[in-house]
Amino acid sequence: MPSQGTVLVTGGAGFIGSHTCVALLDAGWAVVVLDNLSNSSAVAVERVEELSPGDLTFHRVDLRDRAAVGAVVDERPIDAVIHFAGLKAVGESVVDPLRYYSNNVVATVTLLEVLREREIRDVVFSSSCTVYGDPANVPVAESAPLSAASPYGRSKLFIEEIFRDLAAAEPGWRVLLLRYFNPVGAHQSGRIGEDPHDVPNNLMPFVMQVAVGRRDRLTVFGGDYPTPDGTCIRDYIHVEDVAAGHVAALDALDRIEGCQAVNLGTGTGSSVLEVVQAASKAVGADIPFVIGARRPGDVVATWADPSLAEELLGWKANRTLDDMCADHWRWQSTNPDGYR
Ligand code: NAD
Ligand code: WQD
Repeated sequence: MPSQGTVLVTGGAGFIGSHTCVALLDAGWAVVVLDNLSNSSAVAVERVEELSPGDLTFHRVDLRDRAAVGAVVDERPIDAVIHFAGLKAVGESVVDPLRYYSNNVVATVTLLEVLREREIRDVVFSSSCTVYGDPANVPVAESAPLSAASPYGRSKLFIEEIFRDLAAAEPGWRVLLLRYFNPVGAHQSGRIGEDPHDVPNNLMPFVMQVAVGRRDRLTVFGGDYPTPDGTCIRDYIHVEDVAAGHVAALDALDRIEGCQAVNLGTGTGSSVLEVVQAASKAVGADIPFVIGARRPGDVVATWADPSLAEELLGWKANRTLDDMCADHWRWQSTNPDGYR
């Protein structure tokens, strides 16, 4: 397939990054991965190459190392950048905020300075539904008020503001801020997936580690919320749909001007108990759980209004919660210890 161009993918060894690399290679892009492997494994990159042989190069580089980032960008002409690299553990960000501001915000400024020097101005950035804080209305549209409840969330909000300021100050930047809801699942092959290095903070990886026997049971954080079954509601989205959203976003950059935020969600909410039920069906066994205390800071219910993504990117999610659980289980059961 003829090359669509070359895209620099920061954080390309990570969960969403690795799936996106497969989708980009499948679509005919040449891919340059830049990752310091602080929360990922080089094996993920090898498996990306196995799933979609193509033009991929990998550089183990920290984004804050300006000279090293410049050297990667100077190695070959870069047409666009997808910027995934960052830390994402909400609790850790509360304990060590400077690490988050350095690794997420400072690193992004360094990247943008390197890009500006070379007149590379097409960027797709990994933002998050966390920038909506506790939304007053659901489904949440991009025009909803923004706020943040943790240093992690603020790092995303600051980066969004930096992009908005930059695009307002300098013509030529074309930036899509993709606000993901809750990416879960794994590549359908079961060869790549999410591999949390510590105890998972997120629901689906925890559920799947219980299913595979690495943990005894799930604690459901709160069973007395004002929702139909008393548990919180989220918009879970298959990581392969998220990956496809990035390919669509790159194609859409030609059609936008300045900086634009776009939700990547399904538009449907599922409760914690609905996820447990769907996971049990995929696994073929009950997932043991207990109802515990509420987790401080949890939003009760949120899901996306995904209509702008369809309008602007021509993209919409089409995989179901059952697909997410089946694919996540295929990855977890065939790689019980992740990439180790
Ligand atoms: P991940 O941790 O699997 O991937 C992030 C990658 O970035 C890792 O490979 C890590 O090694 C790399 N990295 C981190 N700091 C770096 C640095 N300074 N230099 C170079 N590489 C660095 O996480 P993910 O789930 O794939 O998330 C990707 C992006 O999407 C993140 O920015 C995250 O905040 C955002 N996001 C994730 C979710 C989610 O639920 N997974 C939701 C919304 C937004
Ligand atoms: C989902 C639901 C928990 C674990 C995170 C980030 C946020 C954004 C989206 C990145 C909640 C419940 C969880 C467990 C449980 N990511 N749960 N037992 O809360 O939407 O937020 O992902 O930008 O910043 O914080 O996702 O997967 O942590 O939780 O009951 O062991 O599962 O209370 O209701 P969340 P999550």
